[in-house]
Amino acid sequence: MNTFPAQRPQTGTATPIATFPPGFRWGAATAAYQIEGAVHEHSRGASIWDTFSHTPGSIADGTTADVACDHYHRYRDDVRLMSDLGLAAYRFSVAWPRVQPDGRGPANQAGLDFYRRLIDELLDHGIEPWLTLYHWDLPQALEDAGGWPERDTAARFADYALLVHQAVGDRVRHWTTLNEPWCSAFLGYGSGEHAPGRRDGRSAVRAAHHLMLGHGLAADALWTAAQTGTQVGVTLNLYAVSPANGHPGAADAARRIDGLANRIFLDPVLRGEYPADVVEDLTQLTRLDHIADGDLDTISTPLSFLGVNYYSRYVVTADEGADDAPAADGKPSAWPGSESVRFVGNGGPVTGMGWDIDPAGLTETLLRLHRDYPALPLYVTENGSSFPDVVSPEGDIDDPERVAYFFDHIEACHRAIAAGVPLRGYFAWSLMDNFEWAHGFAKRFGLVHVDYDDQRRRPKTSARWYAGVIRRNGLRL
Ligand code: NOJ
Repeated sequence: MNTFPAQRPQTGTATPIATFPPGFRWGAATAAYQIEGAVHEHSRGASIWDTFSHTPGSIADGTTADVACDHYHRYRDDVRLMSDLGLAAYRFSVAWPRVQPDGRGPANQAGLDFYRRLIDELLDHGIEPWLTLYHWDLPQALEDAGGWPERDTAARFADYALLVHQAVGDRVRHWTTLNEPWCSAFLGYGSGEHAPGRRDGRSAVRAAHHLMLGHGLAADALWTAAQTGTQVGVTLNLYAVSPANGHPGAADAARRIDGLANRIFLDPVLRGEYPADVVEDLTQLTRLDHIADGDLDTISTPLSFLGVNYYSRYVVTADEGADDAPAADGKPSAWPGSESVRFVGNGGPVTGMGWDIDPAGLTETLLRLHRDYPALPLYVTENGSSFPDVVSPEGDIDDPERVAYFFDHIEACHRAIAAGVPLRGYFAWSLMDNFEWAHGFAKRFGLVHVDYDDQRRRPKTSARWYAGVIRRNGLRL
């Protein structure tokens, strides 16, 4: 097993260090479908991602995550890797179809046992488990009954949350309901790039609401069952959004995209209301009659923290009729009512995903959250980059671009803290290379390289570098 000797400061150099507050949580994140494999084991049911990935043409490289990183069988070794890295916390998700193969009814104990074993292993290594209940793998049976556009799915989600809490509520303090509901709603039901692959703006808008309702119902259930120290939050993918130029059309495009990417979730969850301008834009598309009295009270159940997944900035302009314009994130159909918006990028370097590298956007996003939704503790629950890694003949993976990406974004966090933002932790995406959804295995985000032929794990240079950051609780500038 590899270890991670941190890179030592050169002797005699008094290198200044950007130190983080004591107790700042350093972690890494993964998600069930992206790493577990073992899709037929212990009565696990099918999820929408099993169906979608087995549908020809859905995944760029034609792969599925049937085996993925085989983490289901190798979790002990993987926890040892985390321990070598010095992680204080590990963010993972529970696969709903392992717990309820058909999305409803009693718990499948054999499925829950996997998470009991994983959590025990983490605790034995002094690593705090951060559990996400939903990272996109809806039981297929619930999709067959209508999926997230249907209200009932929200109630089913709360039942499932309670089953997981009954199993491991005594051992897990940090609970996250949803991961990135924007992707579930707008890529899953709008552009169809993600499972279940439906393409209908109205369904996407309904899905967004019912995901939030599910979040609120699950958060309520968790609070009712909570034990001392329980913390409940939600993770959103948030973006800095800027107009590409000084034209009023660009300003309006930025407002629309900020509305659909960020505020459509932030305001209901943290303020108990939809933003008026987003409602106005969306009513041109759908009557919004799926929003019932009392929903927003449920959706805005008080939270202990907000998880922020940050990767990039959107720079946008308005371009009537430019229907061949490439969107930086998904097809135009991922942005219902905003199809005339053009994503133009910031003109700077991009990652292997083609995403603009914009660390200043992270500071900006954290400051904005602190300004608009004050007093709420924040965690960066994902941040990272994919680059085409090369394994040297000696088996080393030197990934200076990923190190630079992490450095700049961790420094951006430090700036936000210095400006008064209550940022309490940072989770790198990802612990190891894994199934990058519609891109398959071609895109690698890991600190640790995975060879999918023999499942060998090899820490990259970035893993050693991150171990040093954790050990020092700061960046060497
Ligand atoms: C966000 C998602 O939560 C995660 O599953 C995905 O792999 C990363 N972004 C990178 O795209």
